[in-house]
Amino acid sequence: MEKIVLELISIGKFYKDGENILWILKNVNLKIYKGTFISIVAPSGSGKSTLLNIMATLDRPSEGKVIIDNEDTSKLDDVRLSKIRATKIGFVFQQFNLIPELTAYENVILPFVFSGNTDEEYAKNLMIRLGLGERLRFYPSQLSGGQKQRVAIARALVNRPKILFADEPTGNLDPDSAKEVLNVFRELNRDGNTIVLVTHDYNIAKTAQKIYTIKNKTLVEVDDI
Ligand SMILES: Nc1ncnc2c1ncn2[C@@H]1O[C@H](COP(=O)(O)OP(=O)(O)OP(=O)(O)O)[C@@H](O)[C@H]1O
Ligand SMILES: [Mg+2]
Repeated sequence: MEKIVLELISIGKFYKDGENILWILKNVNLKIYKGTFISIVAPSGSGKSTLLNIMATLDRPSEGKVIIDNEDTSKLDDVRLSKIRATKIGFVFQQFNLIPELTAYENVILPFVFSGNTDEEYAKNLMIRLGLGERLRFYPSQLSGGQKQRVAIARALVNRPKILFADEPTGNLDPDSAKEVLNVFRELNRDGNTIVLVTHDYNIAKTAQKIYTIKNKTLVEVDDI
């Protein structure tokens, strides 16, 4: 039996706008097996980031459950949730979100503060593997877009998360750097990492093994568009 790393059960999300209730997601169900690479491709405003943030426990659903590594996160308080985020989840953003005052290496080991890990050798090897061996002491302003995103990916992986989430990770990159970053995801998946990538671009979504879209506020698998 393949191991399920993350499961969504009947997830719904709404926002209140005065008297009105605005549903963004309804009855979203998903099982993510260890070692798989899935993508979610849908147009702007369809709820991709909302769903990814719920999966990564950055946001809470209005209804339903998010089970991560066999633990029902809906029952957990914020302290326990931040512990799960620090140890089991990696997140990569479109805007890189690097700290400009810290070097590439210092950015990568920043999550150690929250996890209590100290394996600097692992952090360095990760950077070498991502082609950043010569860039450890560079500041974000001294890096290309692709290099910045690879630093962000190394930072997301430094605590050996169970699952890596990426929200439009190539959205700020030129086509060559985008290709390079997608290759990194492919290699990381080949090495056993579980990845969820969100994009509005079908050509990018195709990098994954399994493609989903959001249709009528729910998640459906795309066989072929
Ligand atoms: N805090 C909020 N309050 C009210 N509505 C919100 C809030 N956050 C998001 N929404 C709405 O939820 C919908 C989905 O937003 P979301 O950011 O998930 O879309 P997306 O698919 O990631 O879009 P994009 O491709 O542009 O990033 C949008 O219509 C947005 O206006
Ligand atoms: Mg978004």
